[in-house]
Amino acid sequence: MKHSKLGNSTIESSRFIYGCMRIAGDNSTSDRSKGKRAIMTALDAGYNHFDHADIYGGGASESIFGEILAEQPHLREKMIITSKAGIRPKNNDDSYAPTRYDFSQKYLLASVEGSLKRLNTDHLDLFLLHRPDYLFDANEVAETFALLKASGKVKHFGVSNFKPSQVALLKSALSMPLLVNQVEINIHNIDTLLDGTLDQCQQHGITPIAWCPLGGVAYSAWGNTFSVEDEQRIESELNNQSKKYGCAPWQVILAWLLQHPANVFPIIGSTTPERIIAAKQALAIDYSREDWYRLLEARNGQAVP
Ligand SMILES: NC(=O)c1ccc[n+]([C@@H]2O[C@H](COP(=O)([O-])OP(=O)(O)OC[C@H]3O[C@@H](n4cnc5c(N)ncnc54)[C@H](OP(=O)(O)O)[C@@H]3O)[C@@H](O)[C@H]2O)c1
Repeated sequence: MKHSKLGNSTIESSRFIYGCMRIAGDNSTSDRSKGKRAIMTALDAGYNHFDHADIYGGGASESIFGEILAEQPHLREKMIITSKAGIRPKNNDDSYAPTRYDFSQKYLLASVEGSLKRLNTDHLDLFLLHRPDYLFDANEVAETFALLKASGKVKHFGVSNFKPSQVALLKSALSMPLLVNQVEINIHNIDTLLDGTLDQCQQHGITPIAWCPLGGVAYSAWGNTFSVEDEQRIESELNNQSKKYGCAPWQVILAWLLQHPANVFPIIGSTTPERIIAAKQALAIDYSREDWYRLLEARNGQAVP
């Protein structure tokens, strides 16, 4: 496994991050065991960075992870633990409240407390705002981050699904750096290539973290708009490239993401041990600019102008 620094910090994260969104499965005993196995596989394979959110599995993902830390506390010092907050699901206790975003100080502080308790740890290495709250007050968030930092409960901060203007607004109010912007990047969703997100990351030393890195090909992307013809064209190019590089088509997709000079860190969300391990092969692919553009052309259905 390769490691690189996150943002302008000294934190050395594995180049692939293990995503814990699916580790609870349906929360049955067998799915929870499978989730624990996936985490241990990831650790053994050299992943040292684990991505959580307060809402994954309704809190069960963090709890499963916390059970491992309770059983093997020595593992904590080897890990970078990220968690996120700010999405507030429809509240069952209050039928009036819809699903909403909430960056209020009260909500974020309470959410971090909940994550620490479930994860069985006294600090998060990274805390991210999950999705931009349309009503967010940058000064209030800055104050919240300062409180979390001063208490030692959070070491570093970042955002997720933020547009460049939202990053710029938050940065203008903060006294500490934003280390990462966790965004959807895959062969279907290339918005971040086009809307300035990856440019901003490169300019300001913010690490782009790619969620759903295989969306659109290995399984359907969120809001998939590919036609059958699009998928066939992309798969045909992927098959050719996988033969050339001696790897699986999905590993080519990871190599395509890794090629970007902003240093994209993909999050691997599979709970299948073989896939968690095999993802690392993508790091060894000497991927060419020509193949990068051939895959983009197959995705777009036309050459770049
Ligand atoms: N910030 C955000 O808003 C946000 C949103 C979504 C996700 N995330 C983070 O990103 C992580 C990864 O997201 P994700 O789990 O959606 O993405 P992913 O890693 O691209 O995909 C995981 C899914 O694809 C399947 N899969 C993986 N490799 C495959 C292959 N080679 N062939 C066929 N199927 C394959 C997995 O099934 P198996 O488990 O059966 O292998 C699993 O169902 C999450 O765990 C979470 O930490 C963040």
